[in-house]
This record gives sequence, structure tokens and C-alpha cells, in this order.
Amino acid sequence: MKYSNKVNKIVYGGDYNPEQWPKEVWKEDMKLLKEAHIDVLTLNVFAWASLQPSEEEYDFSRLDEIMELVGEHGFSVCLATSTAAHPAWMAKKYPDILRVEFNGMKRKFGGRHNSCPNSPTYRKYSVRLAKKLAERYKDCDNLIAWHISNEYGGECYCDNCEKAFRVWLKKKYRTIEELNRAWNTSFWGHTFYEWDEIVLPNLLSEHFEYDRSQFQGMTLDYKRFNSESMLECYKMEYEAVKSVTPNLPVTTNLMGFYKNLDYKMWAKYMDVVVWDNYPANEDTPAQIAMSHDLMRGIKGGTPFLLMEQTPSVTNWLSYNALKRPGVMRLWSYQAVAHGADSVMFFQMRRSIGACEKLHGAIIDHVGTNQTRVYREAQALGKELERIGEETLGAVTEAEVAVYFDWDNWWAIECSAGPSCELKYKDEVYLYYEALHSLNIPADIVGEEDDLERYKVLIAPILYMTKPGYDEKIRRFVEKGGVFVTTFFSGIVDEHDLVITGGYPGRLRDILGIWVEESDALPHGVQNEFSYQGIVYPAKLLCDLSHPEGAEVLSTYEKDFYQGMPAITKNSFGKGEAYYVATRSDRAFYEKFIGTLCKEAGIRPVAEPQKKLEATIRSNENGRYLFLLNHGEEMLSVILEYSGKELLSGNTYQAGEKVKLPAKGVFILRLQE
Ligand code: GLA
Ligand code: ZN
Repeated sequence: MKYSNKVNKIVYGGDYNPEQWPKEVWKEDMKLLKEAHIDVLTLNVFAWASLQPSEEEYDFSRLDEIMELVGEHGFSVCLATSTAAHPAWMAKKYPDILRVEFNGMKRKFGGRHNSCPNSPTYRKYSVRLAKKLAERYKDCDNLIAWHISNEYGGECYCDNCEKAFRVWLKKKYRTIEELNRAWNTSFWGHTFYEWDEIVLPNLLSEHFEYDRSQFQGMTLDYKRFNSESMLECYKMEYEAVKSVTPNLPVTTNLMGFYKNLDYKMWAKYMDVVVWDNYPANEDTPAQIAMSHDLMRGIKGGTPFLLMEQTPSVTNWLSYNALKRPGVMRLWSYQAVAHGADSVMFFQMRRSIGACEKLHGAIIDHVGTNQTRVYREAQALGKELERIGEETLGAVTEAEVAVYFDWDNWWAIECSAGPSCELKYKDEVYLYYEALHSLNIPADIVGEEDDLERYKVLIAPILYMTKPGYDEKIRRFVEKGGVFVTTFFSGIVDEHDLVITGGYPGRLRDILGIWVEESDALPHGVQNEFSYQGIVYPAKLLCDLSHPEGAEVLSTYEKDFYQGMPAITKNSFGKGEAYYVATRSDRAFYEKFIGTLCKEAGIRPVAEPQKKLEATIRSNENGRYLFLLNHGEEMLSVILEYSGKELLSGNTYQAGEKVKLPAKGVFILRLQE
């Protein structure tokens, strides 16, 4: 399904901040952006201070002019509500809008993404502004979406948040006794008698490091509360604009694997998921792909919008490397290959002052079309026009699901022990990377997603088993599904309270094992196990388990637990459940996941080879095979399908060999 009936192509454009420039420049921008085949502009992202110069005064005159200008030039608009940075006068007059940091430090005015989500001032004025914008611009035909605030994030530990936290807790637990039970407060004599004895868990109270807490149940609840507080701000603005323009999609830009906000919950209130893709220099194509898949996954596999990426360079890394020629194009298509229905940038023209003056833009400081970046952007714009609306709304065909859950993420990483190197996303990545290199598409799913259409479910470190999720897995496996989980699974419930009676708790019957202990290996230390005749390393954690019906596929080769299971497989109903009791290396995961998928009858989208990425999307217009060459060498790929290539217009027959140049892209509409 398309996210809007006002669009008929992969929209192309991004953040445009003309308010930073004199009007003479605007005209020039219009010309240059048109020539670059840009068609959508995100406006008004950081303009609150000029839209509301004082408490009672609003001034939309400049935005009116900008809206008129871009409208006249035929650009669509994604209109932001400007509430991601409050005005200085507001901070001076109403200090409740200022956040308090994790260490207890009260902020002064400065920066952005800086408002306390529980500040009555913030809520009142942000919603008021959103409503006024909607009323003022509701009849603009070129308005295609609302962009609420910008990259919600961070957290606040102010007194208002503390009070709101108590209200939130009261609603959740009803009685103080129940809260005491859920947080296990009999530990270290923490029993609470009155709600106002509860304080926020931070460096002043329960934390000894940012992530590490002495009362994990409390920290977990704070994280949920903080994410929901910000979501509440978003929802209030959402309702405000929706009440005026019910038919326009409303959204906010997310940040991929962003830990502080439970995006799975957020996605429910977003008409379309949009996100900003800023990989670090060292990120692999698989890491970027996994973020795209997460963003597609949080809304049940629906297409998303790529709202921001840099055309060339960022300003906030330690080393801000340039995107090499062809990489911006390649990564733009990678987003499309994973479900994006837009290609957008931050930003259109490079600022001259403050911290983003060295951030890439379509129009650079030189101010002309004579730059590599401009030319690359222009060429891509032209190509996207050619593709038109074919791929819009297309979904990904995946038979493998990878489970990811924010509560689990928070709980694992605020845990004291067993190893400081235990990082949820890293473990998920090891499995995802194997699928990616095997060209087997995967959906990233959460607790509420249906598992019916999948053959394989992979849930690395399923530390927290939420009520009912074990039942879902049980049904999935009974019906013939293949389930894979790892060490440190089935340990706690939704309050981070241990499920007693033997690990892996509620998963014990499904996996057919009992885990008795877990050995954390210091950095550099490893054990070994062999699988299909090859020896692989065992690192990080080694679970010591006993089979209770499961078949032992491999055992540890060293130490006092030599001979104990490293990998087990349990037949359960019509399906199978695997337990990988330790962490290994890339070669192992490829072999192991490759074997499971093959046995489950899952075929790669294209024959795997180094640096080749392949995905398939389909909609009512057809099925589209995407081939991307992330390497520096030419690749040849033997096509398994016949069809027409969208960028060149050439037709191909199944069995034909396609030459894919370095950084090359190939999109085949399959002939069925
Ligand atoms: C984020 C923000 C933008 C801009 C870019 C710079 O994604 O949303 O406003 O600051 O980062 O990379
Ligand atoms: Zn606060």
C-alpha cells in the first residue's frame, strides 16, 4: 500500500532551511534543486523561535513566503512542526522546559532535542504550535506529510518527570505492595511505603554507570516511562494536526537501532515509519541493511521512508569520511531494496555557521552545480524519475524472522553480570549478518507480530521471556517452525525477575535442555566446539547445559565442561528448536544458518557471493529483484529469473550472466 495517494514516484529531496539564508539565495536554490530532479522538501524543522517570538505572538510570514515559493516551483512539502528545539525566551521564562541530565545536572538553554517531555510548558506550546501550523497550511495541495518535531530522543530526570513517573507507576502497579514485589525491593531493604519515596533511577540514586543499575526492575520501568513520555508528546501533536488534516500522513523521523525509545510501540502511532540513515564509517552493508529491516519491521513489514541521509559527509563523527563516488547512489537504492519509498537527504544547502556548517548538502558553499556531490545527486534524481511509481508500496518477501525487543535490550544491558561485553544488538547482528551474506531476506519482528508466515524464527539472547511469548514460540514450533535461540535466554520475566525452576525457564520444554550454569570468558579467552567437521571458537559466554530430550549436535572441547553441549536440537511437535549455548564467529553462523535454512526449504534470492546484496520486493505491479554490488570489483551474477531491468530498460533471460560493476545497482522486474 502507498503511504499517500498524493505521490506517484519515489519522492526525492530532504531538509531545506531557507530561513538561514537571504532571499536572493532562495531563487537560486529553486533553480538548482529543480535541476537536480528534487521534488520534495522538508521545511520548518527548527523554526519555533521565529514562529513564536514571544508567549502571545505568532508570526508565520516568513514560512508563508517559503511555502509559496516552493509551491510555485512545484515542490511537494513535508512540513515539520518545529518543536524539537524550544525558543530561548521560553527557557528563560519557564525553566520547567529544561531537562535534567542523568547525573542530576539541570540544563540551561542550548542545543536542541532539549525539552523535558513532562514539562507542562512544552506540552502546551508544542501542541498549540502544531495546531496553528495545521490550520494555516491545511489547504496547501503540495503538502504531503506532517513531520512532528525531529528525532525524539534522550531522557530527563527533572522533578516533573519524577512526579510523572510516580503517577505512571501507580497506574501500572495499582498498589505499592505490587510495586515492591515487581521490583524485588526486599533486596537491600528498599521497601517503599509511600509513592513519593520513589525517586528516578540515575547516577544520584541506583546507577553506578549509565547502563548499570542496582535495581534493574526500576531502571527498566524508567526506560519504559521515558519512552512513553516522549511518545505522549508526539501523540499530542499528532492528534492536533490530524484533527485538522485527517487525510495527511503524520510521522516523525526515527533513528534505526536507537535504544532509548521503544520504536515498536511508537510505530503504532505513525502513519508511515520514516527514518534517518547515518552509518558510521566502519558500518558494514549488513549493518545498514539490518537497520532498514528493523525500521520496516516495527510496523509489521510495511514500506518506510528514508527521511535523511547525508549526500556526502557528516560533521559529528570523529573522522568524517566522504561517501565515495557511487556510494550515495548505492546506499539510496539499498534503502529502496529494503522497503523505502523515498530517498531524502539532510540537507539541501550547507549552512554557513554553527555545528553543521561542515555537514554535506546537495548545494555546497561554493553555491553552484559544479560539484561531484551535486552531479551525483542530479544523476540519481533523474534515475528515480525513470523508475516512477512501480515499486511504491512493495513489501519484502521473507521466510525468516529475527526477533528484536526493546525491553529485552534494556534489561540485558542494565544487568550486572554476566559479562560487560554482552550487547544484545551485537548478538542479533551475528545471526542477521549470516542471513544477509546468504542473500536470505529476513523480517525483524517483535512480540506482537504474527509468526504464521515464517519458516524460521531466530531470537538471539531471549533473556526476557514475556508472558505468552513462550506460548507463541511453542505453537510456532509445534506446527513445524524452526526456532533458534542462544545462551542467556529464558532467564527473567517482564519485571526482570528470574523465572525459577531452572534455565531457560519457560523455554525449557521447547528446547529440551536444562542450563545449569554460564561461564563468562574474558576478552581474548576462548573455548572450542566442532560443527559439521570444522572447529569453531566459543566466546563471550558458555552455557553449561544438560539435554532433556534434545539431541546434542556439538560439545565443548576444552575446560572442565568439555563434552557438555554447545549446540542442541530438540524435536518438538512438527518442528525443531535449536540452542546455541555460546557465541562463535562469522564462518560458523553462515554454516549453521545456511544449513537450517536449506533444511527448511528456504532458498537465497540470488546465489551468495562476497559483496553482493540481493533482496526482493513485490506489489500489485510485480516482483522486483534488487542486486547491489558493495565491493570495488565487478561481479557477475547468473540470473535465476527473466525480466526487465528498471534503470537501463534492458530485458534479461533466466540463466543469463549479468555484469554488475563496483557500486552497481540492478533492479529487475521479474517476468512471471
Ligand atoms: C539528524 C537531524 C538533522 C541533522 C542531521 C545531521 O539526523 O535530524 O537535523 O542534524 O542529523 O547529520
Ligand atoms: Zn523532565
